[in-house]
Amino acid sequence: MSVLVLHGPNLNLLGTREPEVYGRTTLAEIDEQLKAQAAAAGVALSSFQSNHEGALVDRIHAARIDGTRFILINPAAYTHTSVALRDALAAVAIPFVEVHLSNVHRREAFRHHSYLSDLAVGVVCGLGPQGYGLALQHALSRLDPSPS
Ligand code: DQA
Repeated sequence: MSVLVLHGPNLNLLGTREPEVYGRTTLAEIDEQLKAQAAAAGVALSSFQSNHEGALVDRIHAARIDGTRFILINPAAYTHTSVALRDALAAVAIPFVEVHLSNVHRREAFRHHSYLSDLAVGVVCGLGPQGYGLALQHALSRLDPSPS
């Protein structure tokens, strides 16, 4: 039982990339924090970043058979362009939350549309790195086998 965190293009540059939009936290720091949060709940978490659409599609396919029970995904620019990522997530039918560091709805019009949102369990945007932690909190509550 595990959670998969997927990061799309240019997110490897977090920390130095447009810090006024995305902040100064690095991707490694985000992943480290998520791993610790998942570990505290006894859940394994793996993360994967790619600047290539096909590599992200392949990783989603692999999630079908590697024990992934929930996906957190920041598709970055592919949010607004990728039918392929949408189809991959629909194909594996693993529940996912879409995360964005920035509030995409306060930005350029082309960022207002997502090819993924209507398939997502939920969408978190505009809360910076904290958004990932909140999305993971939700994922962990859904994975918790104890009755609530
Ligand atoms: C982003 C928002 C996208 O519009 C943009 O292309 C990104 C990052 C975010 O986390 O705010 O690369 O997904």
